[in-house]
Amino acid sequence: MRIAVIGGDGTGPEVVAEGLKVLRAVAAKVGFEYETKDFNVSGDRYLAAGGDPNVASMPIVSEEEIDELRGYDAIYLGAVGHPDIAPGILEKGLLLRLRFALDQYINLRPVKLYPGVETPLAGKGPEDIDFVVVRENTEGLYTGMGGNQYQGTANEVATQVMCNTRHGVERAIRYAFELCKRRNDKGRLTLVGKTNVLTFAHGLWYRAFCEIGEEYPDIEKDYNHVDACCMWFVKNPDYYDTIVVCNMFGDIITDLGAMIQGGMGVAAGGNINPSGVSMFEPIGGSAPKYTGQNVINPVAAIASLAMLLRETGQNTGEAKLIDAGDRVEAAIMAVTPKMDSQSAKRMGYSTTEVGDLVAQAVTDAE
Ligand code: IPM
Ligand code: MN
Repeated sequence: MRIAVIGGDGTGPEVVAEGLKVLRAVAAKVGFEYETKDFNVSGDRYLAAGGDPNVASMPIVSEEEIDELRGYDAIYLGAVGHPDIAPGILEKGLLLRLRFALDQYINLRPVKLYPGVETPLAGKGPEDIDFVVVRENTEGLYTGMGGNQYQGTANEVATQVMCNTRHGVERAIRYAFELCKRRNDKGRLTLVGKTNVLTFAHGLWYRAFCEIGEEYPDIEKDYNHVDACCMWFVKNPDYYDTIVVCNMFGDIITDLGAMIQGGMGVAAGGNINPSGVSMFEPIGGSAPKYTGQNVINPVAAIASLAMLLRETGQNTGEAKLIDAGDRVEAAIMAVTPKMDSQSAKRMGYSTTEVGDLVAQAVTDAE
């Protein structure tokens, strides 16, 4: 297996280093070979090359790099975000650029409360919080269609187009039905949208969902408006199994999901192209104020590595990789109860110590 590693900025490289430590341990345990290559794609490199911090003045990731990335089995990404670079430049130039260029049309975000991890939801435990969000990842409000007219005048107009194609909606919905079937949990797929207001865009989603749903008679077809979904995340998270949702709403509800599973230190995500190159990342940011202090939580990055192994195994049919992913997740679940907290600085361990504990748990497992 060949993995491209993009540490990125801030604490990204630190947490990725712990994930790679765990990868070494699990590869030795299960017996598979892999190689990694570091790609220095970051805000730091952009600034060092003379990039303008206020407007995108040169590519953050080059065409050649994107072509090279296409040759890897997976990409392991640390963090995107730099305190000296204006918002939007790195997000669009790196994260969204790779998601779109590599057609990673699914953003897979499990919301799972690990044992011993504190949730802000009173009276809820790991048995109540275990579902997965399938976020559409290449369309909706993220395409960059729209514009400003009469800018700087009292008559300024701004539009941001929510672009949905039948093709894009359908492939996300199909992926979600298949995932729901594989999970073999409650057998319930919930479409989250806003059909009462976004009648065109989410009308399309709803019709596609109902039509494709007929091919899955054993799966319960369920629908929530996005506002109600936020309410249920807090009140009845145990209701959910698999959720499928548009890009923007998926972005928002998965931050709420991250909080109920114990915070940004824990939440992992995968940008998936089932027939191409997928990219796995902790969903939190680059946490510049903690950079270099060995205090950031690497659990989310290690959980992303578990996803990377499992998804790559799923796509290539290599059972060893699926086993490796399961083992990494089991090791995380053996370590979280020992930690004081999942927040940076308060874990009771340093970043490298948490990585050591998980790697050791992988090695010590049966
Ligand atoms: C995420 C992030 C990104 C998004 C930003 C950084 C562009 O919030 O991965 O959820 O909105 O998708
Ligand atoms: Mn987000």
